[in-house]
Amino acid sequence: MQLTPDMKSWVESKIEELTLEEKAFLLSGVDIWRTHAVPRLGVPQLKTTDGPVGVRGGTMVDGTTAALTPSAVSLSATWDVEVVAGIGELLATEVRDKKADILLAPTVCLHRSPLGGRNFESFSGDDPFLGGKLAASYINAVEKHGIATTIKHFAANDQETRRFVVDQVISDRCLRELHLVPFQIAIRDSNPSCVMASYSKMNGVYASNNKRLLTGILRDEWKFDGIVMSDWFGVNSIVPSVEAGLDLEMPGPARKRGKNLVDAVNKGYMMESTLNINVRRVLGLIYKTGKYKHPLKEEEPEVASNRPEHQAFLRKAASEGIVLLKNEKGLLPLKLEKAKQVAFIGPNARESVAAGGGSAALNPHYRQNPHDSFVENAASMFPNLKVVHAKGCLANKWIPLFPKTCVSPKNGKHGMYMEYFDNTLLRGPAVHASHRESTVLSCYDNLPKSFVPGKRYSYRATGLLTPKTSGRHTFSMGSCGPGRLLVDKKVIINIWNRTKESERSEMFMAYASPEVRHDLDMIGGKTYLIEVEGVSRELDPIPVHYTNELYRDEIMDGSRVGFTEEVKDDLLGEAVDLAKESDLVVLVVGKNIEWESEAYDMKSMDLPGGQDELILQVLKANQNSIIVNQSGSPITMPWVDQASTILQTWYQGQELGNSLWDVLVGNISPCGKLPVTFPKRLEDTPSFHNFPGENDRVVYGEGIWLGYRHYDKAKVEPLFPFGFGLSYTKFEYKNTRVSSEVFKDKTTVSVNITNVGRMSGKESVQFYVSQTSRPGLARPIKELKGFAKVDLKPGETKTASYVLDKYALGYYDEKKRSWVVDKDAQFEVHAAASSRDIRGSAKFRVSGTMQWIN
Ligand code: BGC
Repeated sequence: MQLTPDMKSWVESKIEELTLEEKAFLLSGVDIWRTHAVPRLGVPQLKTTDGPVGVRGGTMVDGTTAALTPSAVSLSATWDVEVVAGIGELLATEVRDKKADILLAPTVCLHRSPLGGRNFESFSGDDPFLGGKLAASYINAVEKHGIATTIKHFAANDQETRRFVVDQVISDRCLRELHLVPFQIAIRDSNPSCVMASYSKMNGVYASNNKRLLTGILRDEWKFDGIVMSDWFGVNSIVPSVEAGLDLEMPGPARKRGKNLVDAVNKGYMMESTLNINVRRVLGLIYKTGKYKHPLKEEEPEVASNRPEHQAFLRKAASEGIVLLKNEKGLLPLKLEKAKQVAFIGPNARESVAAGGGSAALNPHYRQNPHDSFVENAASMFPNLKVVHAKGCLANKWIPLFPKTCVSPKNGKHGMYMEYFDNTLLRGPAVHASHRESTVLSCYDNLPKSFVPGKRYSYRATGLLTPKTSGRHTFSMGSCGPGRLLVDKKVIINIWNRTKESERSEMFMAYASPEVRHDLDMIGGKTYLIEVEGVSRELDPIPVHYTNELYRDEIMDGSRVGFTEEVKDDLLGEAVDLAKESDLVVLVVGKNIEWESEAYDMKSMDLPGGQDELILQVLKANQNSIIVNQSGSPITMPWVDQASTILQTWYQGQELGNSLWDVLVGNISPCGKLPVTFPKRLEDTPSFHNFPGENDRVVYGEGIWLGYRHYDKAKVEPLFPFGFGLSYTKFEYKNTRVSSEVFKDKTTVSVNITNVGRMSGKESVQFYVSQTSRPGLARPIKELKGFAKVDLKPGETKTASYVLDKYALGYYDEKKRSWVVDKDAQFEVHAAASSRDIRGSAKFRVSGTMQWIN
């Protein structure tokens, strides 16, 4: 943030007038999503909201609806800075709708392992260059509307296992050449107002206390001039975090800071002038958002506005992220003119698998699923086409959330009526109540002001459930604190003896007990009274050690309840029968919000449930089967040789059904390319031996050999390489060239691309740089240093080009503590259709050497 003279004088005038207490409180939030205000001095508060795939607003679950964009991994698969900029524009509008000032996005850490729970949420895939450039485009588009973005999580937040404590042991070279790069590029090419520090430790020091990272690298070297905030509850000290450069403790009310900071200054543990440095930056951000002009204006209620132009754009963005992995028989685009029946099979075929889980999840304006969107779109064009459906198998991780057949006794709407009591005994009149549609009964935000962290409370959610069928149905519950589930006043699940030391599971962002299940004989059509009761967790007191490392704490609370009716049918048999009698099968498989989420990593790359078996059986029954995989990370494909047609569709947000239709029928030619290598097996992956570590320590043993850098060097054949994706048309690459054979500060690489097929299409051209002369240190065989997307009609030729700068050439030498280009080094730049499909190369060299620090 460049301090303009006006900004400087506003900030300095506040610094002079603020009391020490007010300053201390400005360095932490006031509630879960907002910062402190100082009304007497006209200093307003700022409101944050999560991203990156939509703007959820100030409620974690069941908030106002919002546009749900494709997941970041899908946006990366577009390789298109303009599509990503369009997403940024759309999000800026939605941030305004939610009356927020700071978007907590984008997420950019690398996909270090296919098991990473948050991979779906990050722009970076295998490659930091792709992630950094796309993130910059996103940030520029949002910030130009006066909204602050928050690039996260600084740095290398690529595993969820033990994320609050794990120590990541990373060499400097690996950090500089990979894990810092998306942040560095985004800060160089755009101007994010905020950086969010990660939870974990890096080389022994918590990111939130890490002066080298937050001040040395970020500010001194890269000249970042915005604020650094903690991840939620991720401040790990009182004084050291301030001194390290962590400006804002989030969320509030202050847990580590606040009064403790005042005391720290008064007792001589820290100078007020040190505090002022961070306060200046927070004030600078407040000024930058423009909110200081109306400091006393009350926050308006959030708006949910489902805009047609956003829907259209999200449809395009989602379809352009879809990657065609195989089309050996030319089944795609579908020829539906002669077809009589199409079967949509699979656990995801008629579900809205739109996003991964955790803080990125939100309540979309509307939901689609592959089957229903196909039926709707096909209705007018192919009125005689019959579309049938079979689930094929179950693939849920936990018992699904309560179905539509559960309604609130208060208003008859789907969901439950939830009441809160200001004691642990559910006693007296409720002090607060709300309608909850989801049975993730979160008690995190929007609680009464009297519910301060640490003061325990209780809650009861009530619903009326009418099963459709008679049978032995299953209920489930996981609870953060003590909890129980009652049916018709009888306790059927009892987790009431839960203490703060009790075992946790992955449920409820990994705060809840293991899932407890109970089967109950029930009668179809009969209404049952369901009650869920719980008490908030007991929190650990926070010790006051001004200069020591402290642990994270958190106030996440609530419970999750599930219900499913007994499955009596032979799901697999039914699916196989439908496959046999249909002309075509669209088999929609994958993971979902519960398998891929913040707070935990995956245990396996395999598709969950009986999906591999289902695929094999369906492929046997009908050769005309199209496999559609929905996941944010690579999966194993033991059936890959039998499948002629495979689409990777990620998580596509609210337009998931229409975007799939567009690709299936050829409204667009697929143009997505993998932003991450799909390995054949987990054992082939570079971090296999070192993920997720042990005893809270993870060694980045693969060093700089991540993703395609590893597969190239170790000569390991991937299932589908980084950058790979087919099209319905064909592109020819000709005349790869550079603007100068001796590298000048900006040297352009270009290639002519011709569409030699019969359909319009887009091609993402990738430029990889290889050092061909002997390098001072071992280097990857090639690295992505440029990309360009061209849109071509049949027969048309365009030039794809990229301007290379010094960052395309250097490697990081730890001994010299700087980036280096070897003396008179020689290079080749390749124009490629994927990391394993080089179509042309051009040579160039440098004259002399280069060396730089940042
Ligand atoms: C996540 C952040 C998120 C924050 C607020 C944390 O659990 O790691 O990415 O912005 O919560 O919801």
